[in-house]
Amino acid sequence: MRPFLKWAGGKRQLLPALRPCYPAAFDRYIEPFLGSGAVFFDLSSSHRLDGRRAVLADLNADLISCYQALRDDTDAVIYLLAALERKHRARGDACYYEVRDRFNEARAGGAGKAGGASRAGGASGAAMFIYLNRTGFNGLFRLNRAGTFNVPAGRYANPTICDAGQLRACAAALQQPGVTLTRRRFDGTLADAGAGDFVYCDPPYAPLSATSLFAHYTADGFTLEDHERLQASIIGAAGRGAVVVLSNSSAPEIESAYGSRAARKAGLRVRRVPARRAINSRASARGPVDELIITNAPVTALDVPLRMARARAPVAAARRAAQR
Ligand SMILES: C[S@@+](CC[C@H](N)C(=O)[O-])C[C@H]1O[C@@H](n2cnc3c(N)ncnc32)[C@H](O)[C@@H]1O
Repeated sequence: MRPFLKWAGGKRQLLPALRPCYPAAFDRYIEPFLGSGAVFFDLSSSHRLDGRRAVLADLNADLISCYQALRDDTDAVIYLLAALERKHRARGDACYYEVRDRFNEARAGGAGKAGGASRAGGASGAAMFIYLNRTGFNGLFRLNRAGTFNVPAGRYANPTICDAGQLRACAAALQQPGVTLTRRRFDGTLADAGAGDFVYCDPPYAPLSATSLFAHYTADGFTLEDHERLQASIIGAAGRGAVVVLSNSSAPEIESAYGSRAARKAGLRVRRVPARRAINSRASARGPVDELIITNAPVTALDVPLRMARARAPVAAARRAAQR
């Protein structure tokens, strides 16, 4: 089962390196940065979540609304998306920009219904969200300063827009008893993680350089302070007995934060894996780059090169050094 959304930083390609970190036994799965849910759908389709609870969360209100509508109103989402697909086949980009306007109007109307955030709710909001995702530039979700979705049309000759079989399979995974979907900041999702929990965290990438493209999935972005708070939450969860797996870029701040004495004391180790990054708009700049997998899990199969983090300095010191 593949995710039904494209997502900047989606982890399908990293699954072979992540799977050896999945614990054999756990009671509850927690994913605070859900995005397109590559790991959730992988766990679900390999029956690792059968009879277990799963807490799925993300700060993006439109994303969570879309999942909820697909779970609760599958037929209506598919029906509306198939209608958008027919219009797109007939009118292409003109259809895209019309739907984008309607989506933004619906988002403005939905403000305040999801903890204050704008979002386009219900089956119609979900159908528009999936349509824009499948036909917009690189499947990006980007808001301008005014909080308006402003991604231009993509250049696809014949995009897959409504794959009813895939949507039904994903809906069935979300409908499993024990699966919950919440719009929430990561700190809240991780607050009670502990013994018996398997936590997978895939936060927005820390930028590799001051000029690198940094994906903004929410109007607020994800700052280095957020990465510091996440490190503290991860160390806390590991200290309380959770099995934790985190993926991120190989930015020096991330290597040093998780190579720190506190992180190592919590049992966390840093592994470097080769990965291909697809969010750069210039195809020539999408070369292979390393990513980091940080985990306290006993890794079952070493199909990834092992390397300890180089630096041990705390995040703030590394950031000061990077700014010099
Ligand atoms: C790298 S993506 C996750 C990709 C996902 N693993 C996949 O396979 O598609 C990071 C996600 O974090 C979410 N996010 C950003 N800031 C957040 C925050 N403070 N709390 C929770 N989620 C946040 C974004 O909306 C985005 O979906």
